[in-house]
Amino acid sequence: MDITRVGVIGAGTMGNGIAHVFARSGLSVVLCDVEQRLLDRGLATIAKNLEREVVKNKISADDKAAALGRIAGVVDRARLAECDFIVEVATEKFEIKAEIFHDLDRVTRAEVILASNTSSISITKLGALTQRPEKVIGMHFFNPVPVMKLVEVIRGLATSQETFATVRELAVKLGKTPVEVNDAPGFVSNRVLMPLLNEAMFAVMEGVATAEAVDEVFKLGMAHPMGPLTLADFIGLDVCLDIMRVLQDGLGDPKYRPCPLLIKMVDAGWLGRKSGRGFYTYQ
Ligand SMILES: NC(=O)c1ccc[n+]([C@@H]2O[C@H](COP(=O)([O-])OP(=O)(O)OC[C@H]3O[C@@H](n4cnc5c(N)ncnc54)[C@H](O)[C@@H]3O)[C@@H](O)[C@H]2O)c1
Repeated sequence: MDITRVGVIGAGTMGNGIAHVFARSGLSVVLCDVEQRLLDRGLATIAKNLEREVVKNKISADDKAAALGRIAGVVDRARLAECDFIVEVATEKFEIKAEIFHDLDRVTRAEVILASNTSSISITKLGALTQRPEKVIGMHFFNPVPVMKLVEVIRGLATSQETFATVRELAVKLGKTPVEVNDAPGFVSNRVLMPLLNEAMFAVMEGVATAEAVDEVFKLGMAHPMGPLTLADFIGLDVCLDIMRVLQDGLGDPKYRPCPLLIKMVDAGWLGRKSGRGFYTYQ
């Protein structure tokens, strides 16, 4: 099946980036969120980020206008019936994604692939909520989406080879590099990254070093472009906590216990860059 119109569900940090790269590569995009206000914010971010690419001479002003013209923001999920491919990019909560997958199975044509950008939730479980588990797959982009090259393509237990090949090809069309991964809590990226960030938080909580010092160690000693606590703030501390809980529940090993300081900061509403305060403060 030719994919010309893509549905993106969720216009937050990742959803607007994913809509951006689809539209820039010439596909029509139906961007769906629960409130017009959230769509407006997502569309404004896309316009700002496309403008940044114009300033850097990566695209022309006409390309920017054309890409924006290809994105339609909708609150009504029934509009996704027009789409040839869907990627779900909603909040990282199983109940939210479960409701969406259940509904997408009803709203979209039977041949449409339903992908999820989840960071950690089981693709197999999402697939089992539908009548088309062979067409359910993980398509895990990285933040910021217009810049980062990697897409983890995650096979659920029932995902077909045809679905996998279509998504791999789509990722290449977006200028990304797909890497094949099997379904397991956190996949590869977050299985390895999140425990590192969590351990950095334990180091701060136990007074081993300040957040600044931990970050310096990783930047200067391991050539990481940003330290683990800066990265955690960037990802969102609530997202980090959700992922640690998926690792803890899914793998059952106490080494995945979320750091109490992380829990406390999320309880306080200190979610990192997006809330203005996390391990650092932001204007
Ligand atoms: N933030 C990251 O760095 C990152 C990286 C890779 C993957 N992810 C994954 O991407 C997904 C989205 O994360 P995010 O950081 O963009 O979160 P976010 O909070 O910035 O955005 C989530 C959006 O989903 C919307 N939403 C919630 N329920 C919805 C529904 N029923 N229908 C439509 N929209 C709905 C919210 O209104 C919000 O706008 C999560 O699964 C997350 O794990 C995040």
